Amino acid sequence: MSSSRSPGKSHSKDDHHLLSAKTQDKVFLRNSAGDRPKSPASPDKLPLSPPPARADPANAGKIILREPARRDGYPVNQLVALCPPLDKNSTYCNLLQCTDFSSTGVVAELDGRLVAFTSGYIPPAQPDALFIWQVAVHSDYRDQGLGKKMIRHLLERKSCASVQYLRTTITKSNRPSWGLFQSLAKTLNSEILSQVYFDSERHFGGEHESEYMVVVGPLKR
Ligand SMILES: CC(C)(COP(=O)(O)OP(=O)(O)OC[C@H]1O[C@@H](n2cnc3c(N)ncnc32)[C@H](O)[C@@H]1OP(=O)(O)O)[C@@H](O)C(=O)NCCC(=O)NCCS
Repeated sequence: MSSSRSPGKSHSKDDHHLLSAKTQDKVFLRNSAGDRPKSPASPDKLPLSPPPARADPANAGKIILREPARRDGYPVNQLVALCPPLDKNSTYCNLLQCTDFSSTGVVAELDGRLVAFTSGYIPPAQPDALFIWQVAVHSDYRDQGLGKKMIRHLLERKSCASVQYLRTTITKSNRPSWGLFQSLAKTLNSEILSQVYFDSERHFGGEHESEYMVVVGPLKR
């Protein structure tokens, strides 16, 4: 999962071994300074996703999950900017996510406003895996199960019928992201393993935290 830059840290021997979910919990405990902070309500405006030609009044006030479309690229770019520590990609990149990779992406829309987005793809060398690139939930809509719902929605798609593993990368400090994937592993009755994949010094020139490759699976759904 791409996230923002932070001072580099040297890699430890953890880097070379897969961590079990239990070990990962210990990593958390070492890094946590107290209770989980509540997501702050945000005054930021929600990106407007132009409504479809025939909006369904039956969906008024409901959060709808659907495949992204070309018109969502720019609102997605605005939403990601409101969701630190995610890296902001170019609008062009988001447009490609919403077109070429739409079958493995989800937007969550409420009355024409884009409240959450998940991008992903099936890696060409791993057709049995779904790589989750970014998950962004607007701060006003967090802690309601939306992040988890979007990924479970993707797993139900025909395009993901062959998926046996969820993959993503997470920095050690991104507690919400670890929380999300640990929760998914539990719900899907699957193992969760992780190891450093993109190292702070070796791959980010010390300008970004190391990214751990996290693998959940084999999936039981
Ligand atoms: C991470 C993020 C997508 C989670 O979205 P969300 O809709 O609030 O998550 P959900 O409500 O679906 O929660 C799923 C699980 O993650 C856990 N979780 C959510 N936020 C958490 C936090 N701040 N700390 C620890 N665990 C957290 C929840 O407890 C839940 O576990 P449970 O099912 O056992 O109760 C959201 O916080 C976000 O957009 N953050 C900013 C961008 C980011 O870091 N993206 C990377 C995401 S993988």
